[in-house]
Amino acid sequence: MASITIRNLDESTKQALRERAAQNGRSMEEEARLLLAELEQGSPGLTAGIVEHKSTDYPAIPVAAAGSSSEPPIAGFPAAGKCVLLIISGGIAAYKSLDLIRRLRERGVHVRAVMTAAAQQFITPLSVGALTADKVFTDLFDREDEQDVGHIRLARNCDLIVVAPATADLMAKMANGLANDLASTVLLATNRPVLIAPAMNPAMWSHRATRRNAETLRRDGIHFIGPMAGEMAESGEAGEGRMAEPMQIVERIGELLDTRPKPLRGKRAIVTSGPTHEPIDPVRYIANRSSGKQGHAIAAALAELGAEVILVSGPVSIPDPRDCEVVRVESAREMQRMVEAALPADIAVMVAAVADWRSKGEATEKMKKEGGKGPSHLELTENPDILKGLGHHKQRPGLLIGFAAETEKIVEHAQAKLERKKADWIVANDVSPDSGIGDAGGVMGGDRNRVRILSRDGVEEWPELTKKQVAERLAARICDHLAATTTIA
Ligand code: PMT
Repeated sequence: MASITIRNLDESTKQALRERAAQNGRSMEEEARLLLAELEQGSPGLTAGIVEHKSTDYPAIPVAAAGSSSEPPIAGFPAAGKCVLLIISGGIAAYKSLDLIRRLRERGVHVRAVMTAAAQQFITPLSVGALTADKVFTDLFDREDEQDVGHIRLARNCDLIVVAPATADLMAKMANGLANDLASTVLLATNRPVLIAPAMNPAMWSHRATRRNAETLRRDGIHFIGPMAGEMAESGEAGEGRMAEPMQIVERIGELLDTRPKPLRGKRAIVTSGPTHEPIDPVRYIANRSSGKQGHAIAAALAELGAEVILVSGPVSIPDPRDCEVVRVESAREMQRMVEAALPADIAVMVAAVADWRSKGEATEKMKKEGGKGPSHLELTENPDILKGLGHHKQRPGLLIGFAAETEKIVEHAQAKLERKKADWIVANDVSPDSGIGDAGGVMGGDRNRVRILSRDGVEEWPELTKKQVAERLAARICDHLAATTTIA
């Protein structure tokens, strides 16, 4: 890859580059990058008189295109080809920003970095620059940088600014509009969206001043990721204050820069997920092994495509999916009430493993075993069938999808459920622990699934996938179905 050092170009070449950059509303570096790309594609006419100077006086700063490392970029990242300005402030978590840069670059994102003075106490501009393959900006008063790029252009010639780690100090500056170094000045001058990943000691994060600043920043439209709870780098310290992991930040960046169309915008979807807990007495209940992973992934995939999603979830220990309204319930009867309260809906996907039975009479006091007087058997009664109820409801959702958890005769049993519950599709999966799907333990609770989609048109077999992939494929199938059945007036 060709490289040039702008500061070493002769004055007339530099002036020509400066004028051309100004005309095109780009920084000199960006203009140079485009010219180099043109040169590499064999259009030297465009670059005549500008990129002919190569310096030997200083080590060259490579002007790298996004994802131009030796590895081909990971395909399909929604922010590929976009530019992120990463501001690294001074905390121990700064080391994680090196990995963040790598993860973004391997997904085809161009990363340019600004480091505060404190950040340079933890990691060096040399290592950051080696990973971004670009100049690292550290000084507001650097004459060369101001001429070549300028802090205003730095603040605006990107698609997103990410502050990772964001210290309590930098957050306080942002919340109060202070601009006394390059990072804070860029943050005040920008007209781009800003995502911050706070990282600090739990006592600092929970301090009233930081809470106030965080609240102000949220009101100002700053996006947050984290901080997360867990052990801190300082020994013996734990709590909320850890910086989000690089891949979590990457995912959030992908979401914020995702400009793909949202085909389900304007559609309302109800999704159920997780198990139900059916009380026996105040401390005991009947439950099952559903983790909520499949249902939550489907809710997230529908929201991702623009649907308004109401997720009615039984008790689970996984995080809420982003951009969904989550209604938490315990029992089947409660779930039924909340699902019906969420009607009308265009789409309903009933993924929850609803208990078929509950204890007939719920004891108000804890059942005792003393004296052999405890129950020798538990009397059960049937729970309402939520899916069947929706299938026959006067506000039946336009597209009603049920799941079928089977351990044998999968298609046969799922077919019967399709008919009996008046669903449009049934997603059948084999939940026997020895199904061989994913890790030991199988589909319930695991991360993978292999499903068959039954509809009145027949049976479609899908390969074994992650639950997220199943969710995305199902959401795409829902989009196709709605597109094919929607009549345009
Ligand atoms: O949560 P995970 O660990 O990710 O596991 C995912 C899963 C295995 C739970 C999921 O993929 C799945 O199969 N969900 C359906 C579980 C189930 O209860 O299946 P079923 O065959 O018993 O019920 C058929 C359908 O009727 C389901 O849509 C169910 O939500 C619904 N039903 C069942 C009973 C009831 N009383 N009311 C209902 O609405």
